[in-house]
Amino acid sequence: MSESIRMTDERVSADKKRVINNDRVVDVNQLVPIKYKWAWHYYLDGCANHWMPTEVSMQRDIEQWKDPKGFSPEERHVIKRNFGFFSTAETLVGNNIVLAIYKCVDNPECRQYLLRQAFEEAIHVHAFQYIIESLSMDDGELFNMYREVKAIYNKDEFSMKLTDDILNPNFELVSVQGQQKFIDNLIGYYGVTEGIFFYSGFVILLSFGRQNRLPGACEQIQYILRDESIHMNFGLEMINTIIDENPELWTPRFQESIVSKIRAAVELECIYANDCLPTGILGLNQHLLREYIQYIADRRLERLRLRKIYGSENPFPWMSEIIDLKKEKNFFETRVTEYQTGGALEW
Ligand SMILES: [Fe+2]
Ligand SMILES: [Fe+2]
Repeated sequence: MSESIRMTDERVSADKKRVINNDRVVDVNQLVPIKYKWAWHYYLDGCANHWMPTEVSMQRDIEQWKDPKGFSPEERHVIKRNFGFFSTAETLVGNNIVLAIYKCVDNPECRQYLLRQAFEEAIHVHAFQYIIESLSMDDGELFNMYREVKAIYNKDEFSMKLTDDILNPNFELVSVQGQQKFIDNLIGYYGVTEGIFFYSGFVILLSFGRQNRLPGACEQIQYILRDESIHMNFGLEMINTIIDENPELWTPRFQESIVSKIRAAVELECIYANDCLPTGILGLNQHLLREYIQYIADRRLERLRLRKIYGSENPFPWMSEIIDLKKEKNFFETRVTEYQTGGALEW
């Protein structure tokens, strides 16, 4: 969506920058002067939280998973379902950034964050590949779940359709309709895929971690959850900024369509949670998961400056504590030491 460079003595001023459609106003290749400081800070936060899956030991997980008495059949079912879901879902998010969002968002500071986020999605894909391989799970079974398990297919189909809409050769970002389609994509990914569809999985898997089960996998899930909360905050802030810059998009009718999509997404996530938890385990059940999904959907609506629709309480306050974990966890202290003694700083 940008034209090639031309010679000019007209310099970029920050106040002329916009999140989308800069090609009509400013050079899209100049990070500085920075207008959207929040985007730059999210980029710095993402870098400060850098981690790699292979730095986390899977030894105890392997011992526990091999032990025939380590997990009940219901527990094995729910663990495999969630690793299966995440193993492809992270790829869909990465694809959407690179193929759809990046071509529409042509502001350089937002793009700087998008490049960071795209790499983090690659790390998340790597994490699930590493977990599945470490535990010698049937990778064919897990990586194909999004085509073979209806509850997973439903969610991924919801997301992938949003990417297809932007890849459609008739898509344009000039008309109000085209821009609304793009907002649909952003809300669908940042608000729903990363903001709702990941959360039953996070609650269920981290419930094992709270009992010291699958500690290596759960440590990685914690880092993913922390990354995802930054992705979502960046995305929702970017959406609100686009709407502020293009207020004609935010019609009452469009707002209603967003609310009904969030409602539909909550139902898909509840179907998924029910499929994962046909019976209650670990103090979790279908009812509590529904409460939680509704609670987080309300939070996403509020961030989009829409009225909440459920009014549910948070049945898992411990999740908020995990999300708030700052990087000063032991893991990062260890890692800094390792880097200093591991030769990485030798020039
Ligand atoms: Fe991710
Ligand atoms: Fe993400």
